[in-house]
Amino acid sequence: MGLLELRELSKEYRRGGRVFNAVNRVNLSVEPGDFISITGRSGSGKTTLLNMGAGLLNPTGGTVLFEGKDVYTLRDKDISFLRTEKIGYVPQGQSLLSNFTDFDNVRIPWALFKRGGDVEGRAFTLLEKVGISHLAASYPKELSGGEMRRAAIARALVNKPRLLIADEPTGDLDTETTAEIMKLFKAVAQEGTAVLIVTHELDTLDYGNKTYSMDAGNLAPRAA
Ligand SMILES: Nc1ncnc2c1ncn2[C@@H]1O[C@H](COP(=O)(O)OP(=O)(O)OP(=O)(O)O)[C@@H](O)[C@H]1O
Ligand SMILES: [Mg+2]
Repeated sequence: MGLLELRELSKEYRRGGRVFNAVNRVNLSVEPGDFISITGRSGSGKTTLLNMGAGLLNPTGGTVLFEGKDVYTLRDKDISFLRTEKIGYVPQGQSLLSNFTDFDNVRIPWALFKRGGDVEGRAFTLLEKVGISHLAASYPKELSGGEMRRAAIARALVNKPRLLIADEPTGDLDTETTAEIMKLFKAVAQEGTAVLIVTHELDTLDYGNKTYSMDAGNLAPRAA
């Protein structure tokens, strides 16, 4: 039994009188320690797939199992717990809360389910790992796109998730920073957290152990 199992997962959309499957009967098994990369053209269904896998978007067909539990039959409270506690998510685009500093943004997921421990230390260490600890006291509007993305990555890791999902996490980073983030993800995977990312940069594929490509809603292993 995998950590995350997508079975015949589909999302049907209707737009302008047309019905289409943005995600079409996708099967994917994610094991602890996996580092999985998905590539694919714009509009091929990558974000839709990740959102369903993260418990954020109801499928129109198929199932999502996390640790053997059918995610979309859970109560809202249990899905929220799963999303905050077990799944770290780095969305495509800007997702930091503008009224909070970088440091506080990183601590938010921890604060949602009150508990002890040195969250300040952990948040600061993560900001150091993504290379922006000098910006801990800055607000999102004072940051570049890549700096905001790196803060979102630190935030996704603060609760030590079992699964890290990231949607084009290096889209606005330079080559050197991209390599640093990929190394961080690889280290995270080696510590046993599964990593599932969507990427446009083909050179990032070398870091993963499994690669897939998505085409018009269909997921297939990438030819080597
Ligand atoms: N709420 C919606 N209603 C109707 N169609 C939608 C909706 N959300 C997305 N789509 C369509 O579903 C398809 C897949 O979208 P998705 O965002 O998953 O693509 P993507 O592969 O992530 O693209 P990109 O690389 O540009 O981020 C696209 O054709 C998109 O226009
Ligand atoms: Mg997308």
